Amino acid sequence: MAPTSASREHIAIEPITNPEDFYPVFEICAKAFGEQTADGIWTSMNPGWNTPEGKIQGAARMEARWRVTKDAQNTHFLKASVSSTRGGGGRPVIVGVAIWVHGSLIPGHGDAPDSLDFGDLYPNDERMSRFLTQLIGSMQMRRRQVLQEKAEPQSAQKSVMILDLCALDPYFQRRGIATKLVEWGLEEARRLGDIEAITEASRMGRSVYKRLGFQEVEEIQYEVDEEFRDRSLPSNVFLRTRLPL
Ligand SMILES: CC(C)(COP(=O)(O)OP(=O)(O)OC[C@H]1O[C@@H](n2cnc3c(N)ncnc32)[C@H](O)[C@@H]1OP(=O)(O)O)[C@@H](O)C(=O)NCCC(=O)NCCS
Repeated sequence: MAPTSASREHIAIEPITNPEDFYPVFEICAKAFGEQTADGIWTSMNPGWNTPEGKIQGAARMEARWRVTKDAQNTHFLKASVSSTRGGGGRPVIVGVAIWVHGSLIPGHGDAPDSLDFGDLYPNDERMSRFLTQLIGSMQMRRRQVLQEKAEPQSAQKSVMILDLCALDPYFQRRGIATKLVEWGLEEARRLGDIEAITEASRMGRSVYKRLGFQEVEEIQYEVDEEFRDRSLPSNVFLRTRLPL
């Protein structure tokens, strides 16, 4: 039975500092985006996500991203842990993850967006890497536009906080834990000079984010070649905390 809100359990939200956390974190993503929502974007980005080998590789990719970004302290890998009696004898169990990026196109003001080249992920499959370039390019089109706007000389704020990923173990959903992961980033946005926050939100995520102040801009349109149009892709909406006047 899922824990009730009456359970006396402690929820902690903390940056990941131990690389060993990436395996359980990847497994949470696999449960939430793979098994629960069958999100065609996440599964395409994580080949073999439901195999032991694919999970190790997926966790290794997350860890590699953490390693290259950690010194600049703009990309925050957060874990949510619950001190639970469920199988852990009271030890904290990781139940959720979020990645928040303080992003900017101007060096020194935040992290630049990742490349849209997926040749390393699908080295022998030109079609899949082309599909992913188009798919992630469409998914992040508005995000990249906002970063471009912020980089203009007339823009007072040079960066934004980007909620890049948020997932909860289905067993621990609907207990306010994603809300805490999102609040962490919004607090960081305030700390950085009350900068704006943006995200691309799934069907399940959007109401959580809207409750916390995000507003809907538009449904994301996937611009992919004809040969990919029959692929099942999830609805995502672009949200920002401040709509332009
Ligand atoms: C979206 C997600 C991160 C929310 O995590 P959570 O810890 O359950 O969220 P909270 O408890 O803080 O907020 C609960 C809200 O999430 C939304 N939500 C949770 N489960 C939902 C479901 N099955 N269908 C629709 N909305 C749902 C609801 O708005 C819910 O509020 P309510 O309980 O008042 O209806 C989690 O459901 C998840 O991992 N989903 C699958 C992956 C995903 O879509 N991630 C978001 C990518 S943008």
